[in-house]
Amino acid sequence: MVTEKSAIFIIFGGSGDLAHRKLYPSLFRLYKSGFLKDHFAVIGTARRPWSDDYFRETVITSLKDYFDDEEEVMKEFSKHFFYQSHDVNDSEHYIALKNLAAKLDDQFKAGHNRVYYMAIAPRFFGTVAEHINSEGLKTADGYNRLVIEKPFGRDLDSACELNGNISKAFPEDDIYRIDHYLGKKMVQDIPVIRAQNDKFEEALNNKYVSNIQVTLAESIGVEDRGGYYETAGVLRDMVQNHIMQIIGAIASIDPKAKDAKVIHKNKCDLFGSLKDLTPEQVDTNFVRGQYDTDNLDDEKAYRQEDNVAEDSNIETFTAGKIEFENDRWSGVPFYIRSGKRMPDKSSRIDIVFNDNVTDLGIKANTVVTLLIERTNDHSILINGIDYKESAQDFIKFPEEKDFVGAREAYESLIIDILSGNRVNFTLWDELRSTWTYIDAIRERWDSQTPDFPNYVSGTMGPDAAEMLLERNGDSWVWDD
Ligand SMILES: NC(=O)c1ccc[n+]([C@@H]2O[C@H](COP(=O)([O-])OP(=O)(O)OC[C@H]3O[C@@H](n4cnc5c(N)ncnc54)[C@H](OP(=O)(O)O)[C@@H]3O)[C@@H](O)[C@H]2O)c1
Repeated sequence: MVTEKSAIFIIFGGSGDLAHRKLYPSLFRLYKSGFLKDHFAVIGTARRPWSDDYFRETVITSLKDYFDDEEEVMKEFSKHFFYQSHDVNDSEHYIALKNLAAKLDDQFKAGHNRVYYMAIAPRFFGTVAEHINSEGLKTADGYNRLVIEKPFGRDLDSACELNGNISKAFPEDDIYRIDHYLGKKMVQDIPVIRAQNDKFEEALNNKYVSNIQVTLAESIGVEDRGGYYETAGVLRDMVQNHIMQIIGAIASIDPKAKDAKVIHKNKCDLFGSLKDLTPEQVDTNFVRGQYDTDNLDDEKAYRQEDNVAEDSNIETFTAGKIEFENDRWSGVPFYIRSGKRMPDKSSRIDIVFNDNVTDLGIKANTVVTLLIERTNDHSILINGIDYKESAQDFIKFPEEKDFVGAREAYESLIIDILSGNRVNFTLWDELRSTWTYIDAIRERWDSQTPDFPNYVSGTMGPDAAEMLLERNGDSWVWDD
């Protein structure tokens, strides 16, 4: 059932890429489905001096990239959009924002609810949060929710600093850290699938699982994001957040839990049991790579991309073996892999069972694959075959109505923000554990000079990624 929501959105960075490519199309979908109707307004802010009319035109132009023939609806939708020129460091501008928000709240009867969305560079998050507080933008009788986008820091120290700054102004319960993988349908469906399939859930532990593989592969290179990538690399960009959250969905206990606090505690406990890495274990358990040009010279090497240093040692590929020390998962390798310029785009979890599963009536060495990017119901494979045709009855796909996420990721996450549902957001305690783990890898890597580039564009990464599994007698399920 659709319940209309009321709020004034203040989007810092309202003229930027994230806002136009992700936020406005998602808000439009929510408008069309009735979650947003009469009682909302969007204030876009950025330094450039746009008028309301010009801002609305930019919103409509970006919507046209995603929707056809709906110009009248777009025009009606855009009447909820307003622009306020703003520099994050200027206190006066916050007063202007506060007054505009109050006026629009009266006009649209938005219930004094505020969503402060940081679609700006992370270095501004602290300043903006502080000013929202000090200039009195928060309302007394509605909610005040702060939304921030990854990256949440670049290591534990910077994440602590960032968190320290924003938590002076907003309590943890009002901070919504977006990891858009947590808005993806399959990632949200994993607990539902686990909760509704007793035998599958019974088999998800070290007695029955040989290994679990998480692959987030892209066929494209860094495109125009070379500058950002030079400060990140795939370890920070994909592993610390997306891959860890996917592991959280498949490996934390009690998928039937409904309470956000319990769900987060279970995830925190899991991340708290990540097995520490010595520098030598980083060398044996983690592989890094950087793409070279393909042999045809059709594709540039990473070092030839715009805004990338000619001698860059940033990794565009990583594979690794993550282990946990807890009753459920000790001894089970979680192999992870993510890279750019791999043969195909693929986001998947492969759960490889051992031969003990015959005790549960499951065929020995069964592989269950959960495809993350699919949007229809053909997103589970059993031994490579669509589960519906596999004639195995130990896993059933729940009814569509039981699924949580049937929407585009940002759309689903915005509904959660408007509903005060924090299940699908990243909490600070989770970040602390995952950054500690990632920092150990980064520190070791930064102390050594890699032999880059070391894989050809369009391939599965360096050979060492295959050997990592072969050493344990395992192999990647997804192989070219
Ligand atoms: N783009 C994505 O797909 C994506 C994905 C994941 C996360 N993110 C995160 O989302 C955030 C925004 O990224 P983006 O790609 O949208 O960046 P962007 O296109 O560069 O937009 C940045 C916005 O910030 C505004 N801005 C810059 N300096 C400002 C200042 N001093 N005061 C007020 N506004 C200022 C810019 O407008 P003016 O120049 O007019 O001020 C612009 O609207 C970043 O934290 C990024 O890491 C983005």
